[in-house]
Amino acid sequence: MTGEPDVSTFFDPATNTFSYVVKDPDGPACAVVDSVLDFDYASGRVSHRSADLIVAHVRERGLVVEWLLETHVHADHLSAAPYIQQALGGRVAIGAGIREVQETFGKVFNEGTDFQRDGSQFDRLFEDGDAFSIGGLPARVLHTPGHTPACVTYVIGDAAFVGDTLFMPDSGTARADFPGGCARTLFRSAQRVLALPPETRLFMCHDYGPNGRVIHNETTVAAERAANIHVREGVSEDDFVKLRTERDATLAMPRLIIPSLQVNMKAGELPKPESDGRRYLKIPIDGL
Ligand SMILES: [Fe+2]
Repeated sequence: MTGEPDVSTFFDPATNTFSYVVKDPDGPACAVVDSVLDFDYASGRVSHRSADLIVAHVRERGLVVEWLLETHVHADHLSAAPYIQQALGGRVAIGAGIREVQETFGKVFNEGTDFQRDGSQFDRLFEDGDAFSIGGLPARVLHTPGHTPACVTYVIGDAAFVGDTLFMPDSGTARADFPGGCARTLFRSAQRVLALPPETRLFMCHDYGPNGRVIHNETTVAAERAANIHVREGVSEDDFVKLRTERDATLAMPRLIIPSLQVNMKAGELPKPESDGRRYLKIPIDGL
């Protein structure tokens, strides 16, 4: 029995990010996938508008949060996992590749020795193939690196939360040029997702509505195999690597990459307050 989770979608228009509440159809258990902490870079202000929508959704329905799942260390938004955990409970989880991400960006941000690079800021690190459950719903983890080393896809019943491994068919795949990224690895990870049963529902982490298309967050393995502009059937690994590498060379850094990585590599915990009680983020000059 695979189960068909009830999936509720939340969209953050500031970063084009989808967050999800994934619920066991036969009980109150749920998981929150890729929550967003609102951050206004110009003013340095954080707010909880996006996260509070999820908190209200969970409370109104009497759901029980078992997991706060991160598909990867996001570079375009801050995670609200600690905020939601404090409000609703649950365990914060990410792929075990987080250690590699912490190693890389611990250097970029010149973190001191008190920054543990062992992933211990998270409650659970998933290895490839790990199984877990959300109430009675069976779930398992596919390690799908390439966009980042810590990327995972969560296969929950008949649904898969692919993070940035795949975008909607007309949008292809995510960039593979961040430190630790690799286009060849990303192609192989995409093939693992495309090898799931064709009817598998795929839930995106982002959509940018290319060419004026309405924003959309859900497709299927069959639709991706048939039409994904980067990895549809028939595209070779070498063709993909060429295409991905050429495109990545044209992309600017995401607007929130510096605050996002700094916070998300620590499971979404903001920096500790300094002597004036205020928290500060760093900007490495010429560091990225
Ligand atoms: Fe990402």
